[in-house]
Amino acid sequence: MASRYPAAWLDELRSRSDIVQVVSGYVGLKKSGRKYWGLCPFHGEKTASFSVDAEHQLYYCFGCKAGGNVINFIMEIERCSFQEAVELLAERAHIPMPEMQEDPEYELRRSRRLRLLDANRRAAQFYHETLFKPEGAAALAYLRRRGLSDGVIRKFGLGAAPDQWSALTDKLTSDGFTAEELVTAGLAVAGKNKNAAGETRYFDMFRNRAIFPIIDMYKNVIAFGGRSLGKQEPKYLNTSDTPVFNKRKGVYAANLLRQQRHLDHVILVEGYMDVVSLNQFGVEGVCATLGTALTAEQARLLRRFAPAVYLGYDGDSAGQHAILRGLEIMEQEGIPARVLDFPDGLDPDEFIRRDGLEGFRRLPAISPAVYRLRRLKEQHDLSTRDGKIGYSRAAAEIIRSLDPVERETCLRDLSVETGFSREILLEQMELNAGKENPVRESGIPKKSVSARRPGDSPAPPDTSAQETLLSLLATGQIPKDMISEKDFDDDELKSIYAGLISGKSPAALVDTAPDDETHSRYVRILLSPIADSTDQLISMANQCLARIRKSALQKRYDTLMSQIGALPPDDSSVPALLKEAQDVQAKLRLL
Ligand code: UTP
Ligand code: MN
Repeated sequence: MASRYPAAWLDELRSRSDIVQVVSGYVGLKKSGRKYWGLCPFHGEKTASFSVDAEHQLYYCFGCKAGGNVINFIMEIERCSFQEAVELLAERAHIPMPEMQEDPEYELRRSRRLRLLDANRRAAQFYHETLFKPEGAAALAYLRRRGLSDGVIRKFGLGAAPDQWSALTDKLTSDGFTAEELVTAGLAVAGKNKNAAGETRYFDMFRNRAIFPIIDMYKNVIAFGGRSLGKQEPKYLNTSDTPVFNKRKGVYAANLLRQQRHLDHVILVEGYMDVVSLNQFGVEGVCATLGTALTAEQARLLRRFAPAVYLGYDGDSAGQHAILRGLEIMEQEGIPARVLDFPDGLDPDEFIRRDGLEGFRRLPAISPAVYRLRRLKEQHDLSTRDGKIGYSRAAAEIIRSLDPVERETCLRDLSVETGFSREILLEQMELNAGKENPVRESGIPKKSVSARRPGDSPAPPDTSAQETLLSLLATGQIPKDMISEKDFDDDELKSIYAGLISGKSPAALVDTAPDDETHSRYVRILLSPIADSTDQLISMANQCLARIRKSALQKRYDTLMSQIGALPPDDSSVPALLKEAQDVQAKLRLL
């Protein structure tokens, strides 16, 4: 995270913005042990898994894995940028804003981005104005034919790209943008052939299409989707990724989502048209992915707008597939999800036009398990014995992971569908359970296990010892010379180590993470360890070091043995390798 604020000033800001006090303004906190606990404001929950670590000035939710320092907390809860969060905290703590630091490269990047956003904004304006001119008549007629009102057309800033080669390019060039900027923004493309004067010609990217501007939550126009007015392919043409647009990170209509406070769920659909259409009918909190499958980043973005997400993809088989995949992502991210299962292969737009808002509101938001069971059932022929058996077995696996109430309902349905008694089905569930995890206590949902993401699977013992060692070092109570960089074997851990040694606080360090994924790992690692005294901290550090050094020796020993094994016995290097292997083994025995 490149920042324009002096590091020392940010340190001051963080130390005068006590995280417990700041968070208490939003979340009821109770002290328990060394941490403060409360209900997570970022995902729906009934038992407190949201913790605030006063010692290291970090917060972390063990449910949804949101975490960070006090600035990150404000960004998440106020849905604002780093800069806005910093300004808010500075005002709260009565600290004057600093002189901005000179960082020419940052300034350059920033001003280039601002130019692209400016070009996009003017383009959106041009398209929108064109819609109501003769050149836009075809697009306007198209949108009206699709049933859109003028109100909703204005609300979404829909537009028309005229059926001309370079109307927008000419306009923006005369506004002072260079062709190169327009190409970078994805608004223009360079033609292959040069004109008579030997110059490259530039054409508009979008021609003869209805335009859906993609606007982020800070109201920047970041990209466009263009719908063909007839059968031309592609049906939707989208801006490719640019310095201001990453289609895997944003969602369509984020600008409107941000304005709708207190949503209890967000509805995620597949198409721009679905968002606009549901909006016109009065459905709130709707957004769409941008022509790609749902990503974890998008899921986390949605969590900022509401505590739960409803997946409302098309009712065709592609949509059903995408829902199953989407549910997995929601589970991995710890975001409560439900499904709107549109009937008859309809998409949300077609459905609400057919059945109206009433019909839409009557459509149940079903749980992931019920949705999975529905899809599973379609894969089996329940008129045959084998079909019933196969379905029951697979369904028992899904039902097993449910809470008792939902389990009971699903069991009853399953019994009716298959003719197997409830007792037999229960027995099947226990059989499944036994196969997988014999010591599992009955009645405890398996969810938390299947909900882990790959990166979360228990780290190998020496990696987790390295992580613990860093959390111990972060307390500032461990003699620094106990530990060296060699004790860490991945780059992220090495860089946390270097940061701590150079005197950075845990709360400052988390802002140096290069991306969201790493940020989350940094927070998890830097939470303060549970120990009562410095002695205990040091003895824990010694245990970690023993484990790390032992496993390093073990690895060295394995490497040596496989080197020796690959050589002919009379090779001249064998004796030296054997000697080293013996030494390593002796050291191992000593540990
Ligand atoms: P759909 O094909 O389901 O279209 O694409 P739709 O939303 O029902 O649109 P209409 O009603 O026919 O106008 C869903 C989404 O997939 C992306 C777009 O984001 C679209 O909104 N898509 C689709 C593309 O990016 N390119 C395409 O050619 C088609
Ligand atoms: Mn459609």
